[in-house]
Amino acid sequence: MPSVYLDNASTSFPKPACVPEAVYRYMTACGSNVSRGGYQAAYSAEELVFETRERVCALFHGEDARCVVFTPNITTSLNILLKGFLHPGDHVLVSSMEHNAVMRPLRQLEVTGVRFDRIPCRTDGTLVLDAMEGLVRENTKLVLCLHASNVCGTLLPIDAIGAFCHRHGLRFFLDSAQTAGVFPIDMQQSHIDAVAFTGHKSLMGPQGTGGIILREDLAGLLTPLLAGGTGSMSHTEFMPDFLPDRLEPGTMNLPGLAGLHVALAFLQETGLDIVRAHELALTKHFLDGLAPMQAENRIKIFGLPGIEGRAGVVSIQPVHQDPAEVAASLDERFGIATRVGLHCAPAAHQTLGTFPTGTIRFSFGFFNTKADADYALSALDTLTKEAPHGF
Ligand SMILES: Cc1ncc(COP(=O)(O)O)c(C=O)c1O
Repeated sequence: MPSVYLDNASTSFPKPACVPEAVYRYMTACGSNVSRGGYQAAYSAEELVFETRERVCALFHGEDARCVVFTPNITTSLNILLKGFLHPGDHVLVSSMEHNAVMRPLRQLEVTGVRFDRIPCRTDGTLVLDAMEGLVRENTKLVLCLHASNVCGTLLPIDAIGAFCHRHGLRFFLDSAQTAGVFPIDMQQSHIDAVAFTGHKSLMGPQGTGGIILREDLAGLLTPLLAGGTGSMSHTEFMPDFLPDRLEPGTMNLPGLAGLHVALAFLQETGLDIVRAHELALTKHFLDGLAPMQAENRIKIFGLPGIEGRAGVVSIQPVHQDPAEVAASLDERFGIATRVGLHCAPAAHQTLGTFPTGTIRFSFGFFNTKADADYALSALDTLTKEAPHGF
């Protein structure tokens, strides 16, 4: 039985071959810590980390490589941003499509007196931009939203949101989990104050890598979520006030960063345009193939009708069957890996009208082929023609 991986929105697989090779090379040939040793291996690890900061900074058009902070994942990045920036009495706007990586920290902050409102999105996931004006309050400090929905792939208009924030003197933080490395993100052009990213999805790096690119003036406004040794300012028991050290205590995931270092070079050499064109061509082919099944009322497709305004993520519901059973059959009978359920984003499902049943999500990556999409279409066609299982 073939094995087809269509769960790239969860984590990309496979990685470019250079990524595991770099992780192995780091662990076997270098292995030293950074900022904590006065010898050659430590210096070369330090160089590797700094070069990775430079590559991240260039990718997102950040101000300075020193303003790139590494974390284990975007969930940590979003916690650092939200909990470090917001104070009791502050108000935040988020979209109605957010992942729990945003909503759960916000729910924790709500207990301390932070308030939030959701900017409504339509049933295809598109943001109602005009609603923003009416939601801003005197105490609104921040707009935080994702760039693309991890449930249905719909893109949010970050240029317009950034311009709105700029006009209203609000900070704009972006969750780039589903778009970094595929869609261009320009912090300067889109007036973004902080981009949170995760290394293991479309950036094609190892799990356990992620970070934040910050505007420099935010450094002093963020209370560190964690405190500890940084290898710098060792004479004081207080956290340094400069980036990246202020937000980067403890030994980092250096093998992971070695992998991210080469993943970023791979992306740069390949070109974001090529990656995006490939993933969207597959998505279009898949959506076109799903259309007859929708026309025959065997499935429902969510999100925008085509690839315009969409990342390479497609969510469907079988009309007459349980999504979990169909996803299990895709795996057991056809060797196709998808994700089923609510995808850590209950609010998005409420917006799309798919709560609490959830959806089966197919997500395409750079290493998927047209044959993968065809195989998934034919499997889904077979399964949705079978007798309903009492759903
Ligand atoms: C939009 C979005 N934000 C945040 C996350 C959390 O990513 P991580 O598990 O790498 O922290 C995900 C993961 O699926 C996501 O899709």
